[in-house]
Amino acid sequence: MLGLLFLLWAGLLLLYFLWKTGRPKNFPPGPQLFPICGNLLQLNLKNPMKDFEKLSKRYGKVYSVYFGGRPVVLLHGLQAVKEALMTRGVEFAARPQGLLINHFFEDKGVIINTYGPSWKEQRRFALTTLRNFGLGKLSMEERILEETSHLSSYIEKIAGQSLDPQMLFYNAISNVICAILLGSRYNYEDQSFQSLMQMIIETSKIINGPWGMIYDTIPLLRSLPLPFWKAIENRNKLKAFLLIKVTEHKETQVPGQPRDIIDCYLDEIEKRGNDGSSFDDGFMVALLMDLFIAGTDTTSTTFRVGLLQLMVHPDVQARCHQEIDTVLGEREQVCYEDRHRMPYVQAVIHEVQRYGSVLPLSVFHATTQDIQVLGYSIPKGTTIIPNLSSVLYEEGQWKFPHNFNPSNFLNEEGEFVKPEAFVPFSMGPRMCLGEGMVRMGLFLFFVTLLHRFQFHLPQDGGEPDLTPNFGITQGPKPYQLGVRLRGQQCG
Ligand code: HEM
Ligand SMILES: *[C@@H]1O[C@H](CO)[C@@H](O)[C@H](O)[C@H]1NC(C)=O
Repeated sequence: MLGLLFLLWAGLLLLYFLWKTGRPKNFPPGPQLFPICGNLLQLNLKNPMKDFEKLSKRYGKVYSVYFGGRPVVLLHGLQAVKEALMTRGVEFAARPQGLLINHFFEDKGVIINTYGPSWKEQRRFALTTLRNFGLGKLSMEERILEETSHLSSYIEKIAGQSLDPQMLFYNAISNVICAILLGSRYNYEDQSFQSLMQMIIETSKIINGPWGMIYDTIPLLRSLPLPFWKAIENRNKLKAFLLIKVTEHKETQVPGQPRDIIDCYLDEIEKRGNDGSSFDDGFMVALLMDLFIAGTDTTSTTFRVGLLQLMVHPDVQARCHQEIDTVLGEREQVCYEDRHRMPYVQAVIHEVQRYGSVLPLSVFHATTQDIQVLGYSIPKGTTIIPNLSSVLYEEGQWKFPHNFNPSNFLNEEGEFVKPEAFVPFSMGPRMCLGEGMVRMGLFLFFVTLLHRFQFHLPQDGGEPDLTPNFGITQGPKPYQLGVRLRGQQCG
């Protein structure tokens, strides 16, 4: 009797869950759902990429999976991604809420801040400030060039040998960002700088890893002292560090003569007075963290992809050397204007970004309201994953979709062209706001290094493993970079 009751109860419970976990009407299709865990058990969580590829083959350009009870819609290919993020951009401009990363950023700043007035204000401020970067005496270009010369002299010391470039690039890129945000750079050996870097790396690993996933899907566990607490603890340390910088700036700032972004922000707070806008110390620190975290990993990973490809394709590197020598002649230093006379180098850099696809799934979006799009109904607040890799490798969009080949960005005349499917920065109202700075940085760094050095696979290093490491950002596995000083070949 008791057994029968139990069976009845279990049956009802199962029916209830099956009913609860069905897809809403006219929702994008996807694999069969299971109670509570949704589709989680059907995915290999350590590297779900293969599973997703199968799903898109089976269900098409727009499909859905459930992470626990949370529905997620994936967009595949240029047409679907463009329709959502550009044509219907505003309706897709929210961010998912209630995740570890939201708590990390306390719903402030730009990246994770959902669609609304404070996101708009902070984004516009950041964009215009980065664009008009005539901060004080040094332009953006001069700040980047200062770092390229430090990096160059550092590498010169180890010429003839090889090194793992990971931390070195991390340091160089965050120095450029530090210079722009805080007005100062750090020595590559500086201890406090190193521990700051380690902290940022550790934190993004937690947020992007399994513990982040657990936090996001099983809210019950959030109050337990599990590793995701470390992320919040690190956030507080980072915040404390930045607040000290802000206080120092307040003491030394001359209004109207900004030295860096903090000074610009202080001017903005002053200018806004009490107009009800979102400019205050809390939002400033959130924006600083945003720019730091958004810029460092992505850009330095792009460099690692680039140097790896240059080692693996010596012919491509030789053509870069040739073009750079021709354009620079006797000149020591490159400038950003030179890019117009270096179509091949430009093509190589863009191909590095395309092939590297460093943020393969962009940053997740969410819908701002119930909408009808691409033939489906998607409710307000649904998580949207635009698959940027699917556009960057899409057949029909590229001459060589699956191989590293700079010809993807060159026309018959050898001129540089940029196809519409070049979307490493995503598209629409949420598009990366660091693009201008990244363009300039990639060009100045690559040309400076290639002018001075030749990169080769080290004899002792063995074959590099070209399969990417997956995370939110994907990049090459650690490798050894062989460096030779080039002769006095200028001119
Ligand atoms: C190679 C380097 C980089 C790549 C590939 C990259 C790519 C991206 C992508 C794909 C997004 C998501 C856009 C979307 O939600 O649809 C994004 C957002 C963002 N990026 Fe970048 N990024 C890079 C470097 C930078 C740098 C250097 C900065 C600033 C210093 C930056 C600042 C931001 C910010 C603030 C957002 C959030 C924009 C918003 O939500 O409105 N990024 N980036
Ligand atoms: C995104 O697209 C790429 C290339 O088509 C594919 O390999 C990958 O599995 C896709 N990822 C997801 C999450 O759909």
